[in-house]
Amino acid sequence: MDVDVTATPAARAQALRAQLNEHNHRYYVLDDPSISDAEYDALLRELSALEHAHPELLTPDSPTQRVGAPPAHEFAPITHRAPMLSLNNCFNAGELADFDRRVRETLGIAIVDYVAEPKLDGLGVSLTYENGLFIQGATRGDGQTGEDISANLRTIGSIPLRLRGSDIPEWVEVRGEVFLPHAGFAQMNADARARGDKLYVNPRNAAAGSLRQLDSRQTARRPLQFYAYALGAVQGWREPARHQDLLAALRAWGFAVSDLIQPVQGAAGCMAFYEAMNARRPTLPFDIDGVVYKVDDLAAREELGSVSRAPRWAIAHKFAAEEAQTVLENVEFQVGRTGAVTPVARLAPVFVGGATVSNATLHNMDEIARKDVRIGDTVIVRRAGDVIPEVKEVVLELRPDSARAVALPSQCPVCGGHIEREVGEVVARCSNGLSCQAQLHGALLHFVSRRALDIEGLGEKLLVQLIETGHVKSLADIFGLQLKPLAELERMGEKSAQNVLDAIEKSKTTTLARFLYALGIRDVGEATARDLAAHFGSLEALIDTARLDAPTIHAEKDKDCCPRLRQVPDVGPIVASKICHFFGEPQNLAAIQALQNAGVQWPQVEKSASPQGIFTGKTVVITGTLPGVSRDQASELIQTHGGKVSGSVSKKTDYVLAGEAAGSKLAKAEQLGVPVLDWAQVLAMVKESQRTP
Ligand code: IVH
Repeated sequence: MDVDVTATPAARAQALRAQLNEHNHRYYVLDDPSISDAEYDALLRELSALEHAHPELLTPDSPTQRVGAPPAHEFAPITHRAPMLSLNNCFNAGELADFDRRVRETLGIAIVDYVAEPKLDGLGVSLTYENGLFIQGATRGDGQTGEDISANLRTIGSIPLRLRGSDIPEWVEVRGEVFLPHAGFAQMNADARARGDKLYVNPRNAAAGSLRQLDSRQTARRPLQFYAYALGAVQGWREPARHQDLLAALRAWGFAVSDLIQPVQGAAGCMAFYEAMNARRPTLPFDIDGVVYKVDDLAAREELGSVSRAPRWAIAHKFAAEEAQTVLENVEFQVGRTGAVTPVARLAPVFVGGATVSNATLHNMDEIARKDVRIGDTVIVRRAGDVIPEVKEVVLELRPDSARAVALPSQCPVCGGHIEREVGEVVARCSNGLSCQAQLHGALLHFVSRRALDIEGLGEKLLVQLIETGHVKSLADIFGLQLKPLAELERMGEKSAQNVLDAIEKSKTTTLARFLYALGIRDVGEATARDLAAHFGSLEALIDTARLDAPTIHAEKDKDCCPRLRQVPDVGPIVASKICHFFGEPQNLAAIQALQNAGVQWPQVEKSASPQGIFTGKTVVITGTLPGVSRDQASELIQTHGGKVSGSVSKKTDYVLAGEAAGSKLAKAEQLGVPVLDWAQVLAMVKESQRTP
């Protein structure tokens, strides 16, 4: 390429940036370089020298900004504008068929167009572009808030620092996966070996470590790759109708998008893609741990929605676990947060599924009996992705005479308490409740965690110190901590201690849903805790109901078990029994009382059934695009006026609220004779009902 060396420094810098960005795109994204590395380096050096001489010429999208910045102290939090969802998994054709059926039934169509993608085994990240300029990038974090790893992401050649083309959004979150191809992983480990450093177990861990470098100059040395596969929030851009078009737009903006991605039809098309990828997996230049199917029609996705952080319009189909053979050297017992005593296999180390495994779960005593596992046996271990490795079966032919049976200890290995196994329960438990250190430790960790009471700064290390020094013997003890003893703990000091105390103080005001989740009731996750809070409105009402239901927990038939608690959406007999058990234990009620005495409180919850209004007792289905409001906003209005919003039309539906481009649901309503309303009519009904006393 000819260059005019007589141009002004500003013009020259701009020309160099444009050229370098073009070469960068060719090299990292298209894999089709047109100049040598040496030529590229010469251009980069020239630009760098110009920017040094004229610092005012430096721009944030300059290729010189990819070499890494001086070390940071920590990663600041970044809140995602659109949450980063995770995916539900399926493991076989049957589960895939179930998923496909749910999609077809919800959409009311015979065959679904999907886009099938490889499931990259890396780390999901979100990149923000403002008017085309890369402004920040973050890890997934808890899906709502991630960590600012912009400096590290900037060093990745396939991440554009400025979007290409003119059809770009004012503001957009681009989602995709950072991963380390095999060649890069091998190189990193070769370097680590040469330095005498510890080796990385697999490419995913190495990529994770690279992204979490505080010194981005280190990250710049790692040959990380980025593939884009979705958008988060977007503003000032017309989103296309299909996911395929979105992927095409991402390519046009300069992103690498996997060329393994294919449109497929129906569950059969998905299955064929899965088989093809499984066959290609060993020869791919990077790790994949399955495939992902996504509904192509973006409007249909709206209709499908999501539950508990995972969309109903996509699913991951995971590859079968890898297996290996090794020797079971011993079985030890661990005590978990709920007191569950779990047998753990200690194995002769073996490499399987991308990592060296020396511990595996044996689940429970029934499983040990069923598989006839004995210490000294040769066993098959299996491991899939991030799932805990498990002992799958015994190779009986290789059993030595010295093999001995596994016995459940009668005393807790942590506190010496009694180990009990209830009739009909597979799990054995330490009966010492919150006075067993293992359970206290686990319960406390859960209690302070982000989604529970969210006490920042009260991490595992500090909690362990507090337990070991005897400052914390119960949940409520956290709220009685004093500055001086806290400041005297290892690595604390007055300032950090005060920060922790402030966070503890702040956490006292919480919500009923968080508090219920924080209690760590077995099988009560966040979604159930929210449902319980909304249904009962107060802790007292929940406890009273649990008391009333308690005598029914051993009912013969499921339908007679806990009839009151089971009024709560998604609470079945098993979860209901656990709730009854929990609130039936005097120590647990005492612990709750102690927490309330310590000042833990929450605002009164609006009972979900309580609002009265024009829609009381009515079930409404919303379909199509409403003018000026989102579907969530419309649901909220209907719910605050007493109505129930449902996803599918049946004879029991009272109204269908239809917007533009309403499809099968509207047709069904007409067929069943269900009254159809538009948004203006709904607003008019609400207004009218408020006028008449
Ligand atoms: S889509 C709403 N597509 O898998 C769906 N994710 O198990 C958002 N992943 O957090 C994700 N390859 O980090 C999507 N082709 C792909 C993917 C993919 C890998 C990761 C991603 C996500 C995780 C969920």
